[in-house]
Amino acid sequence: MTDLSTKYMGLDLRNPIIAASSGLTDSVENIVKLEINGAGAVVLKSLFEEQIMMDIDEQRMNNMYGSYDNVEDYIGFYTKKHRIDNYLQLIRDSKKKTSIPVIASINCVSASEWTEFASRIQEAGADALELNMFIMPSDGNYAGADIEQIYFDIIEAIKQHITIPVALKISNFFSGMANFAIKLSESGISSLVLFNRFYRPDVDLEKMKITSSHIYSNPDENAMVLRWIGILKGKLACDMAASTGIHDGKTILKNLLVGANAVEVASAIYKNGMGVIPQMLTEMTEWMKAHNYNSVSELIGKLSQESVTKPMIYERAQFMKYFSDVK
Ligand SMILES: Cc1cc2nc3c(=O)[nH]c(=O)nc-3n(C[C@H](O)[C@H](O)[C@H](O)COP(=O)(O)O)c2cc1C
Repeated sequence: MTDLSTKYMGLDLRNPIIAASSGLTDSVENIVKLEINGAGAVVLKSLFEEQIMMDIDEQRMNNMYGSYDNVEDYIGFYTKKHRIDNYLQLIRDSKKKTSIPVIASINCVSASEWTEFASRIQEAGADALELNMFIMPSDGNYAGADIEQIYFDIIEAIKQHITIPVALKISNFFSGMANFAIKLSESGISSLVLFNRFYRPDVDLEKMKITSSHIYSNPDENAMVLRWIGILKGKLACDMAASTGIHDGKTILKNLLVGANAVEVASAIYKNGMGVIPQMLTEMTEWMKAHNYNSVSELIGKLSQESVTKPMIYERAQFMKYFSDVK
């Protein structure tokens, strides 16, 4: 029997495929279907820091005025608050109806009071919390170090309120990536998720306006993930999960081989339906059998930078030979 189980931030996963945070993970019906289709764990759709702050503000207003009924934007406000209650209920229901780990997710950009809310996520039964963080470095007044400090502040604040494992999902836009990743891994988190993929702008030449580029990833985008997981394996004080461009079982195997403990998948499920999960698992099992591997744990990190005979291959950036040969 091929053993696909893996240990990810202290959690036992029956296999390394985690359904990534997205619209696919925002209802208990879908979570149940993801479990039936074989997902090893799920990350729920992110709740936004802004939504949590709305809830905190409402409690304050209620304390001051007795009721929030007269406030003009009550309806919009109610909708947002309602989402928070629904989110906690989603965690409870998902835990009740499935047996795979349920990882909650919060999209955040500051270490403000919202961090206290994490304790309610823990109380609702989440097995872990993934923080989805991206601070756009578009403000010329902030240096890289100022932005990086916000990550550490958020982790420190969150860790005061919860004991469940915390994962941090980051972008690849950091100038000192290895140094930053190592320091993050030493800040008390249990996993780094490399990397998030964001909304991208495009230009519509006919309508002469800015539009949204491709919402879903393509398999080429995984190369950058492979590079960084491979480089960081063995250097971090926490686990890693791969995210972006994972569309088949072979790509999962590659990400494990460079050092990921698990992978997060969104676009492939959106494009092909949940049936892609069992296909991926079959592909993994067949490859492992054909290559005499009995368990996923034998694969993790086998081809990381520290394990290969030519480690510089991970750092090669220019196509020197290619350019010099091309006439
Ligand atoms: C429609 C859609 C919604 C998403 N929503 C979230 C979200 O709420 N929180 C989050 O952390 N990531 C979100 N993501 C990002 C995915 O979790 C994932 O990191 C990213 O799509 C890269 O993985 P993929 O190549 O498998 O799609 C979303 C992605 C898509 C396509």
